[in-house]
Order: sequence, then C-alpha cells, then structure tokens
Amino acid sequence: MDKFVIHGGRKLNGSVKISGSKNGSLPVLFSTLLSDGPVHLSNIPTELRDIRLSLEILQSLGAEYQIHPDGSVMLEVTDSASTTADYEQVSKMRASICCLGPLLARRGEARVSLPGGCSIGDRPVELHTRGMEALGAEVRIESGYVVAKAPRLRGNTVYLSGPMGPTVLGTQNVMMAAAGAEGVTVIEGAACEPEVQATAGFLRAIGIVVEGDGTPVIRIEGHGRLGGDSCLAGCDYEIPPDRIETGTYLLAGAIAGGEVVVEGCRPSENSALLDLLERIGVPVEVGESTLTVRGVESVTPVDIAMLPYPAFPTDLQGPLMALMCLGRGVSLITDKVFPDRFNHLSELRRFGARIRKEGPSAIIEGGAPLSGATVMASDLRASACLVLAGLVAEGRTEVTRIYHLERGYERMEQKLGQLGADVEKMDEKIDEREMA
Ligand code: EPU
Repeated sequence: MDKFVIHGGRKLNGSVKISGSKNGSLPVLFSTLLSDGPVHLSNIPTELRDIRLSLEILQSLGAEYQIHPDGSVMLEVTDSASTTADYEQVSKMRASICCLGPLLARRGEARVSLPGGCSIGDRPVELHTRGMEALGAEVRIESGYVVAKAPRLRGNTVYLSGPMGPTVLGTQNVMMAAAGAEGVTVIEGAACEPEVQATAGFLRAIGIVVEGDGTPVIRIEGHGRLGGDSCLAGCDYEIPPDRIETGTYLLAGAIAGGEVVVEGCRPSENSALLDLLERIGVPVEVGESTLTVRGVESVTPVDIAMLPYPAFPTDLQGPLMALMCLGRGVSLITDKVFPDRFNHLSELRRFGARIRKEGPSAIIEGGAPLSGATVMASDLRASACLVLAGLVAEGRTEVTRIYHLERGYERMEQKLGQLGADVEKMDEKIDEREMA
C-alpha cells in the first residue's frame, strides 16, 4: 500500500496540465457496449484505477481493448453473450452500475450486482431501476443483483429526480438504455452536469439523436432494438477535461501558490468555484482554456452549500474545506448532495484544524496554524483534501492509503512536484523499516 509523504510550506509555481475527465469517461466507456463498430476514445485518463477497472469489466462483457501510448483507447465488442457484471467488480466501483442501461438496450437483459455500501454515504440506485422500468424493463433484485429483462424497450417520459435532486449516473444509465428503445424518451428532472453532456456527445457520435443535455429535460430518439443487422456504428470521440481535477489544482494554488496556471481546462464548467474564489479574495485570471490562480495567506469565511450543477460540486467539498482552514473567521460548508461526506473532517483535526460537524454541515473556525500529521485517506476526494492541507501544514505529513486518490487523480505526486511541492509517493512498508 502506498502513501504520500509531504513536507509542507513550499510555494507552488508553474503550470499543470489537466487530464481527461474520470466521471466523463466512465459512462462513455460503458456506452461502447451499445456499438458494434470499433470505438476510439482519446484523452482518457488511462492511469486511473477506475478506468482500468472499467476496461476489465468491459472485457468480461465481451469487449476487446487496447491502450495506445498516447493514452487513447480502442475498444470493440466481439462477443455479446454475457449479461452479468459480478459483485467482485461492481463492489469496487459504483459507476459500474452503468452497464445496466447498455446491456438491456443491446442484449435484452442484464444482471448487475448492486453496488453496496460506500464511504461517502448512502447511494441507492432506485432511480436507475425506476427509469429502466419506465422503458418497459422488468426489474427485480435477486441475491444482491439487479436483474433486468426487456425483449423490447419502448420510449417513455421518465422523471429522474429523487429526494437529493437529480442523479448523474442514473440520467446517463437511462440515456444509454433509451438509445436502444423504440420511439422517443424524454428524461425530466435530468442531471445537468457536464459529464451527462459527455455521454450525450458520445451517443450522438454513434448515431443517436440526443437533445437538451445540459438542461433538466433530455430527449433521446431511440434507435429501436439493437443487434443483428440493426447496429450502431463505431466512432472517434474525445473525452473533455476533468473539471474536478481542475478545481482541485485551483484550490491547491490558492492554498500554496505562488502562481499556478491550470492548463487544458474548461473555465465555464467551474463557474461556482470561480465565483467563490473571487468572493473570498483569491485572485484568478480566466483564459480560454487556462486558469491562473495566486496563493493567499488567508481568505474571507464563507457559508456555502454543495448542490447539483451548476452550483458548487460536492466532489470539491473536501478540497474546499482545506482552503477554508485559512479563513479569517467561521465558515459553514453544507453538503446537500451527500450529507455524510465528511470523512476528511476528523483527519483535518489531526493537522490542528478547528472543525465540527452539525448535520449535513461542517463548521470551520479558520486561522489555526496547521502542522503536519499522519492522516488516513478514506475516499477519493477526502484524500485530495488531506493532500492540500499537507501542502500548507508546517512540517511532515503522511497521507496513507492513497490508492483512493489514484482512483481519480493521475500522477498527483508528479503534477504537484512539477509545481514545486515536496511530495513523495512511498511504499508504507519500506518507510516503516526506515523509521525503525
Ligand atoms: N440518489 C438517490 N437515488 C438514486 C441515485 C442517487 O437517492 O437512485 C441520491 C444519492 O444518494 C445522492 C444524490 O442522489 O444523495 C446524487 O447522487 P448521484 O446519483 O447524482 O451520484 P452518482 O451519479 O452516483 C456521480 C459521480 C460522483 C459525484 C455525484 C454527484 C460518477 C462516477 N460519480 O455519482 O463522483 O459525487 O455524481 O455529483 O460520475 C467522485 O468522483 O468522487 C464521485 C463520488
């Protein structure tokens, strides 16, 4: 198991290139099950664990793939017999529930393990299954699996918002199923996240008419039953840059810059973060595909809630909390998407941060000096939060279990190292021997 060892206090300067979007890639990868032709996907963050795992799942479902040296991936389905995604794989990554829609559309049935527990809180999938039922699938839960059958899917109007708002993966799952339905599907209460637009763009590239993505009402003209002679073409498709990685490096620059240029990003997808940074006194220069941020000693406290796009993203709640430790007063951060996503909170206290949790909120009394500590990463974005705190904490920080981080950030130690941070990836066991 690897860990990061960080010596805090170094100023970050220079530029960092943003990778392709993890959450933009995952449903697109599963959408390739719909197509019979070869698919070439560029700008895929192939070093991420979640991408590798998705490719393994696709292989188990009859797809062959090749990863090219330029980081692009070639995929082709050569065997459409299997309809099962098993617990071993799905339990490692919730996004694999996204095989449900394409398997139903292309193979008429699907047996996909229910994802199970998750360290960021309860993550049910009833909106996904309700959407499949609305398209005419018979769905039941059997021995921990979602078992769905639909000799024919028929377009329908589906409402996909739940108690916590729209569902991002649920919207994409139903879009993929609708691609193989007869007639038109209208998704109301759809998620508006840019990742949904990435899936819509891919579906258009393989010949499906999709309109309204990026708004709460999405219209999909189904191709009708897929298979045999009725198939969807292959395509070339480029994955957009990762807006959460973009936001994480912007926050790292705010905490520990110097001057950091975030390159190859889409600034408009981070409007809520840019607005917040301006309000709390962090200078950011916005270019066409670059964002330049300057570090600050302290920031104005905030009262902010994480909500569905275009509001402030829950995936940046942890990294933002690291910055708000530099607040000149008390900040309130509320997560309305995942109200229990606060694993990083007690670890931040180990740096000396003064934080407490009240319901879905964290109350941060800023200004306490942070000092390096050994902290444990427990999920992807909590890990990023702890690394950011380590950059500004005085002395040595160890962030253990960074395999969580590697699910969603490519070569973070190298990217931060190029900016001048002192971050080293180490094997936990080797270091223990050194310390003895
Ligand atoms: N929800 C339901 N019922 C459902 C589905 C969701 O009540 O059937 C609830 C969830 O419990 C949550 C809210 O709705 O409270 C939103 O969940 P959503 O379904 O939108 O989340 P997701 O699609 O499973 C994706 C991202 C997450 C990101 C969320 C919210 C991927 C692979 N995952 O998850 O990303 O936090 O949207 O934006 O796209 C991450 O990258 O670290 C990550 C967790």
